[in-house]
Amino acid sequence: MKSVPQTAFDVQKIRADFPILNQSINGKPLVYLDNAASTQKPQAMIDAIVHYYTHDNSNVHRGAHTLSDRATARFESARKTVADFINAKSTGQIIWTRGATESINLVAASWGGANLKAGDRILVPALEHHSNIVPWQMIAEKTGASVVAVPVDETGTIDMAALKALLDDRVKLLAVNHVSNALGTINPIEQMIKLAHAVGAKVLVDGAQAIAHWPLDVQAMDCDFYVFSGHKLFGPTGIGVLYGKRELLEQMPPYQGGGEMIETVSFDGTTFNQLPYKFEAGTPDIAAAIGLAAAIDYLNLQDRAAMAAHEDALLAYATAKALAVPGLKIIGTAASKAAVLGFTLDGMHPSDIGMLLDQQGVAVRTGHHCAQPIMQQYGIPGTVRASFSFYNTFEDIDRLFVALEKVRQLLS
Ligand code: ALA
Repeated sequence: MKSVPQTAFDVQKIRADFPILNQSINGKPLVYLDNAASTQKPQAMIDAIVHYYTHDNSNVHRGAHTLSDRATARFESARKTVADFINAKSTGQIIWTRGATESINLVAASWGGANLKAGDRILVPALEHHSNIVPWQMIAEKTGASVVAVPVDETGTIDMAALKALLDDRVKLLAVNHVSNALGTINPIEQMIKLAHAVGAKVLVDGAQAIAHWPLDVQAMDCDFYVFSGHKLFGPTGIGVLYGKRELLEQMPPYQGGGEMIETVSFDGTTFNQLPYKFEAGTPDIAAAIGLAAAIDYLNLQDRAAMAAHEDALLAYATAKALAVPGLKIIGTAASKAAVLGFTLDGMHPSDIGMLLDQQGVAVRTGHHCAQPIMQQYGIPGTVRASFSFYNTFEDIDRLFVALEKVRQLLS
């Protein structure tokens, strides 16, 4: 009899699409459980990049030649793929950036710089990643606005009563992640957006940790901005997305100056290009945009509901195993969680655990996960974090816990 659960989802078939998974690390078959840091790439996405550089490589929107036309067509078609994937109304609302971090910095500098003033408040839940805290602190410093933390309880759930109490007409923006990278909490985004809008505040949602898990609809969600990174969506590093409501993007000043983002330039003054180009100075990462679209095309061919159900089953299986380990404390126990399991082990440093797991072929992330405020709240320097994707198996989780038992024996 099998000791592990089975789901209808054919995980072995999917794994064959991800060549990197089929290798040994330190003499053991790789168990890749660091998907919240970066996801692995399907062959179709790798092929798309190779094809682009082999056949179509050129600069976009510039050349009077066939290669440039082809590169431009593929680059703009990638934008349409992203717009459709998140149900944006138009491609003009999809701005390419280097990643979620740059997208947030763009909104903070451009929207924040134009709209914030002394006395205004930016609400940021205590479980945010540094990339959704520091850009707001930087623009607050410049404008005289202040960043106010929204409390989070001991399970890692945002205190909604506290949020309601904080929401008043001083609040101009709520910046919140859809899913916490450190804890896995799925935040009640729709409810938070309604509450923030009721006091006239805008909402930026950091979707870096949500985008890989379920389909989403930015229009139904009614967020003002949604950001994510390509590399957490089975695409390349170096490409990210900023979605914004058109009327906001239209009003916002450019973020960086240079080629592409202009309409006309003279020493008497410059006029700016239309959306989305107004925010895209310089030559973009064309290959990465095309690669991201290929990753999305790959996902669109799959049964995403079955993938999500498989991830939920992996989390439930891992959580049950974790609860049985003496001295293990799960950090992040919200009722609604994505496939992230953060934990500490009594008397053992997370980085020692991570190193010993790696020796057994198991890849996890350790440390504060760029979320120091929430680690401080738990009174810990960091955690060991296993984060799952649809290509993980129940056997991967068995391997994690067998390896962890060895770590416990070595370190205790
Ligand atoms: N933000 C990424 C993580 O959580 C890097 O690991």
